[in-house]
Amino acid sequence: MILTTGGAGYIGSHTVVELLNANFEVLIVDDLSNSKKEVIDRIEQITGKRPIFQQIDLKDKQKTFELFQKYKNIEAIIHFAASKAVGESVENPLKYYENNIGSLLNVMLAMKEFGVANFVFSSSCTVYGQPEKLPVTEQTEKKPAESPYGNTKMISEDILKDYAVANKNFKAIALRYFNPIGAHPSGLIGELPNGVPTNLVPYVTQTACGLRSKLSIFGNDYNTPDGSCIRDYINVVDLAEAHVVAIKRLLECKNKSNFEFFNIGTGEGVSVLEIVNTFEKVNKQKLNYEIVSRRAGDIEKIWAETSYANTELGWKAKKSLNETLISAWNWEQNYRAIQK
Ligand code: NAD
Ligand code: WQD
Repeated sequence: MILTTGGAGYIGSHTVVELLNANFEVLIVDDLSNSKKEVIDRIEQITGKRPIFQQIDLKDKQKTFELFQKYKNIEAIIHFAASKAVGESVENPLKYYENNIGSLLNVMLAMKEFGVANFVFSSSCTVYGQPEKLPVTEQTEKKPAESPYGNTKMISEDILKDYAVANKNFKAIALRYFNPIGAHPSGLIGELPNGVPTNLVPYVTQTACGLRSKLSIFGNDYNTPDGSCIRDYINVVDLAEAHVVAIKRLLECKNKSNFEFFNIGTGEGVSVLEIVNTFEKVNKQKLNYEIVSRRAGDIEKIWAETSYANTELGWKAKKSLNETLISAWNWEQNYRAIQK
């Protein structure tokens, strides 16, 4: 059985679908602080299988231990559970340290107590900051975090690294996600931003459906071909598949060291204006947008070197940007229709 913490969330739910499709038994633990219980039904609708669901706050050490006591056949864990809003983390850093570090520690302490060895962690390209050289490889130097949220990812990776040195039985893989976007092609699960989205693609889809009046593009005076920022946008289903591969690698003992980390991106840099133009073209939508000043703290450009993940994990992003932006729009429309 694979325990997915935060498995009702955006990336977690897509990963649970891929795990069930690969015939793993799945236990989801989520406190529903940033997700909805209906997601479990949708996962069942897509896969024909129902994952086990437990609503638990992983900040609660006792409840976390009781969970491991109850489910003795947990072979591996994918730890998605975390708070992820960069701006909120600046305003309320203790919430982020308490949840992102506290939950990680509780899960790891329970793993130690109950002898569970395999761990996959949701890390982020945020650990690279603005790199001097592009694309970034796994060897690219990490930069001091720009936000408490980013710092929780740095600290979490350090915790995994130190624990892997001290405990030879423990095996961990950190997947450094670039920018996950899009939704399941069924349109049944996708990203559910809380309130006004801060990420680009949910803002685009909410503008297209009329929920937001205008998209602001944060700066067109960057040192990039069209002046807008560049990111590596990875389809969430491709990203989900990387987790299945990582889990198999650990279970089949194919890992090369106790703590490994991989860049999970497409290897392609795409600008904000390219996202907007592609979205308009493939979905035949006209977006109302304006160029405004830069957003504080934004990285100018970043994209991944993915050859290590491609060769070592045997994983590669497959889905095109067109397909991904179609899926994002399909999800937004379906979701709004269900809400009515
Ligand atoms: P999400 O908010 O959709 O999913 C996280 C899930 O964890 C939610 O369902 C939430 O209810 C749950 N959760 C949070 N705290 C919990 C707790 N204490 N106990 C139990 N459940 C808890 O976010 P996501 O986009 O799916 O991100 C998943 C992971 O990937 C996070 O660790 C995030 O930091 C990381 N990540 C996300 C992105 C991104 O852009 N979405 C990029 C890089 C890394
Ligand atoms: C993408 C681009 C914006 C909104 C954040 C976190 C990072 C990681 C992924 C977890 C940027 C521009 C955006 C808008 C815009 N999460 N933009 N108008 O900033 O790369 O990363 O999410 O680990 O830690 O910081 O993603 O989607 O916010 O922005 O012009 O309304 O879109 O300036 O260039 P970002 P994003």
